[in-house]
Amino acid sequence: MRRQFKKIKPAGRVEGVITLPGDKSISHRAVMIGSIAHGETRIENFLDAEDCVATLNAFKKMGLDIRVSGGAVVIRGAGLKGLKKPVSDIYLGNSGTSMRLLLGILAGQDFESVLTGDDSLNGRPMGRVTVPLRRMGADIRGRDEANFAPLTVKGARLRGIDYVSPVASAQVKSSILFAGLSAEGVTSVTEPFRSRDHTERMLALFGGDISTDGLKVSVRPSDGLVGKNICIPGDISSAAFFIVAAMLLSGSEITIRDLGCNGTRTGVIDILRRMGGRIELGNTREGWEPVCDLTVRSGGLRATTIEKSEIPRAIDEIPALMVAAVFAKGRTVIKGAAELRVKETDRIASMLHNLGKMGASVVCEGDDVIIEGTGTLRGSEELSSFKDHRTAMAVAVAGLCAASGESVIDETECVNTSFPGFFDIMGSVAVD
Ligand code: S3P
Repeated sequence: MRRQFKKIKPAGRVEGVITLPGDKSISHRAVMIGSIAHGETRIENFLDAEDCVATLNAFKKMGLDIRVSGGAVVIRGAGLKGLKKPVSDIYLGNSGTSMRLLLGILAGQDFESVLTGDDSLNGRPMGRVTVPLRRMGADIRGRDEANFAPLTVKGARLRGIDYVSPVASAQVKSSILFAGLSAEGVTSVTEPFRSRDHTERMLALFGGDISTDGLKVSVRPSDGLVGKNICIPGDISSAAFFIVAAMLLSGSEITIRDLGCNGTRTGVIDILRRMGGRIELGNTREGWEPVCDLTVRSGGLRATTIEKSEIPRAIDEIPALMVAAVFAKGRTVIKGAAELRVKETDRIASMLHNLGKMGASVVCEGDDVIIEGTGTLRGSEELSSFKDHRTAMAVAVAGLCAASGESVIDETECVNTSFPGFFDIMGSVAVD
């Protein structure tokens, strides 16, 4: 896609009632689990964005019958052993979730496949999944001991392991659990802190034999998953940008309907409330994934310390939280944010660059980020997404909340990886 610059004018306030596209993490898993299940899976509110389409195309390439019907994605599941050898390399664009989770599924297939992506994806560490998968018996090859894609996965006989992960990562956990579906014996993953549990919930919904005991998740092998009809909740990571904008621009009120509020993802709400944010969750519907209507109103914020243990529940919302911290009274410290460095770009570096250009006082000490709540930003024409969707959207919110001056953000086409309608919705809620 052509390189896009976006101009953002400061807004007076934001207001409106919105619904957001389906959750990215859940959309990926719905395609993956629907494909390896038996029978039909119908997915409403699937996130039609580049990352999830990459997953969808990967399964089409492995012979899956996937169609769009009446606005829903309909998959005729092939079962765990029904995937076909792809005739060429599987290209996954920018999507780390696609690559890491697919590695787990492909490790136990009896064919060879090659996974590759764009320059950013091929530069991201895959060792965090290939090391435990190889310990299970997987045959995966690639640069630097299979740490970087392109990766060749040759189907192998897998055996269950009891893996203690050094990182709290749902991608690592999910990849190993998927491999566990075709491994001999029980496969367990223990994390240092709990990461999002969408894989566990969806495998249980589709009939998998999965259990959780504290920070340990275990799965038993099974080719007995059965397709389901599901509706994907709105993405709380996409909501975070509008929540922060509404909190910062005085006189704002936004309601987001049908928003996912799974407790392993709501760290952003807890942190913003602790900062004084006026956020209400109503009409909560418990189900295989809980959903609510969220209302947020503007109000003064105070600084906070975000501990390392809180980061997994807010990992993708840290860029938006950094913008909020600029406007909070006092010094905000985000501790142990090293995982931000291995996202689509180094999000500590990208946010420091952009907020610095806008006049904020933000520094990094080791893996801690320290933000002085100076209470104001000025527009800048030298902003960049660094080809990262969440940097682009967080910086757009910063531009919207700037006291003066237009902002120009370079390379904003990357928002299409997770939220193609972002700038339209932002335009529809912004009031001069
Ligand atoms: C995701 C998990 C997170 C998150 C990513 C999506 C997932 O990554 O940052 O956007 O769908 O499992 P890690 O698990 O590597 O922290």
